[in-house]
Amino acid sequence: MMPNVLVTGSNRGLGIEWVRQYAEEGWRVFATCRHPAEADDLKALAHSHRSITVHRLDITKPDDVNALARELRNESIDVLINNAGLYLEKYEEVSLDNLRFDDWELTFRVNTLGCLRVTRALKPMVAASARRLVVAISTHMGSITEIETADAFYYRSSKAALNASMKGVSLELKPLGIGVLILHPGWNNTRMGGPDAPFRPVDTVAGMRRIIERFDMRHTGRFFRFNGEEIPW
Ligand SMILES: NC(=O)c1ccc[n+]([C@@H]2O[C@H](COP(=O)([O-])OP(=O)(O)OC[C@H]3O[C@@H](n4cnc5c(N)ncnc54)[C@H](OP(=O)(O)O)[C@@H]3O)[C@@H](O)[C@H]2O)c1
Repeated sequence: MMPNVLVTGSNRGLGIEWVRQYAEEGWRVFATCRHPAEADDLKALAHSHRSITVHRLDITKPDDVNALARELRNESIDVLINNAGLYLEKYEEVSLDNLRFDDWELTFRVNTLGCLRVTRALKPMVAASARRLVVAISTHMGSITEIETADAFYYRSSKAALNASMKGVSLELKPLGIGVLILHPGWNNTRMGGPDAPFRPVDTVAGMRRIIERFDMRHTGRFFRFNGEEIPW
């Protein structure tokens, strides 16, 4: 039996690359996205790989999350990839004087609460699997040690909070034999990363898959770059 993986935000960017690579390895892939009807690239990929199924999931919507958990209640999920993310202040300068609190709250709802909501709902399916691994896609921008500029307040703080909460989740899930990895994919040329980014999802997802492949419980609750280096909190 090949393992199963579930990916959030899988219609583009790093998300669709996770789907492509695992499907090509023969894994069964639950590919989730907010708007399946409009996810043309993902549907084309699913058309050429029968092991991919596409599911609707907005990670901020409790009804969506609960519906997916009901739909998959008899499945196992070996690796849960919490990939969906939001970076709203990317194209504007944000400082103390021009904070948009609505944008900040939305960023938290996606990057922090969304990941926790999905992880809680799908925990039984992860627990029922052979590999039992939860992955949170974070960023080195969420490392407080690595903050050197006054920018990206919403994004950085939402990912720092993601890191702190997933570290706690790792301690809670360890006795159940469920591992947690917090990964930074590097700066990638996706819609979020923009065209100047030095890395391509094809390479960084391959790097993160290697970390997942080599995972053992000594790594749980730790924060790694796609090349395997550990990142300070
Ligand atoms: N690219 C980089 O340089 C970089 C660097 C460090 C970390 N990361 C992290 O890597 C992950 C993927 O980033 P990316 O570069 O692939 O970004 P992207 O191209 O902007 O894609 C983001 C994905 O997240 C989805 N999404 C946003 N809000 C969602 C919600 N409420 N529910 C479900 N899905 C939602 C988007 O769906 P829609 O198409 O429906 O909007 C899209 O599929 C993110 O967590 C990001 O923070 C990226």
